[in-house]
Amino acid sequence: MGDMYVTYGRFSKSDDAAVKLYVVSGAEHEIQNLEGDYLEWNKVLSMLNGRHTISAVCEKNKQLSANDIHELITALEDSNLAFKVNSGADFVSGDEAILEIEDLQAQLLHDYLYKNKFWLAMQQPETVPENVYYGMAIENYHFLFRESWFDSPVLNFVASTKARLIMNEFYSEEYGHDELIFRALQTLGITRENIKETIPLPETLALCNALAYWAANDPLFFFTTMGILEGKDIEVDSFILAMQNSKKISTSFIKPILDHANINIGAEHGVLTRELFREIPVVTHEQLKQMRANTHIFVELYDNFHSAVWEHYSTSSDLLRTLSGITLEGAENANQY
Ligand SMILES: [Fe+2]
Ligand SMILES: [Fe+2]
Repeated sequence: MGDMYVTYGRFSKSDDAAVKLYVVSGAEHEIQNLEGDYLEWNKVLSMLNGRHTISAVCEKNKQLSANDIHELITALEDSNLAFKVNSGADFVSGDEAILEIEDLQAQLLHDYLYKNKFWLAMQQPETVPENVYYGMAIENYHFLFRESWFDSPVLNFVASTKARLIMNEFYSEEYGHDELIFRALQTLGITRENIKETIPLPETLALCNALAYWAANDPLFFFTTMGILEGKDIEVDSFILAMQNSKKISTSFIKPILDHANINIGAEHGVLTRELFREIPVVTHEQLKQMRANTHIFVELYDNFHSAVWEHYSTSSDLLRTLSGITLEGAENANQY
């Protein structure tokens, strides 16, 4: 057979010998009665990248039955999990998909995020209340403190070994970044005990929770968010520039935050999304549609996060929202710092 196929799912280890687990974009599909080791089958799947004919795949994997290979490909094709090359079927490459999503991201960021109160205020740094700068750092600390929630579910991304390695490297590079921000907060006299008592704004937690959900259930979409979160478009974070230009914030506070931004630039975390999508051969139009819908929600959550920082910290003279303040003495006494 001269047909060539594309698929990007992989089998993961199954506890039940009679069942193989085909995992693609976070979803598991059970395949019954497929003889042979799952790792052998993954060699077959890795050749279904649109560059090998089925007969070549069978030839290279003689330890497996050619009949079973044909049947698996047919079953995957019937379930829209594998696609015949040049069949006119509905899919694009990962590279094409991410370009389309980045377009939408840029448009939504421009229309919503950069027009919210927080970013508009940053254009006049001297008029921004000091606590907004400190508050952004506090919420950023909370976000980074929870980064393992949303980075860890994709560490075992089985669909692509290369993408998995990229994510694992990124994970180790991100470790401890909350500590960098904490160093800035320490210059304000905030102690570890203080920060332990502090709770994030609901909008900060909402962003963390949504990202953790997507990472676990829709890793491809999660990958699209990383470029934005890691500052793809910004050379030096405009928030840091605003702090510097405000003439209100000490350089000892800014330094650790700047160090963090420079780590992102040095390690090229901003281009991570594109690197990951380069490893994804197929994105179906159905997946792309879902990603577009989720992009709207993600930008809204990201917008809410910045807006909430502005709303809360520009109006509150107290900096720390403490758990004991809220639970023991009522919300109005929450910010005693
Ligand atoms: Fe980081
Ligand atoms: Fe980073």
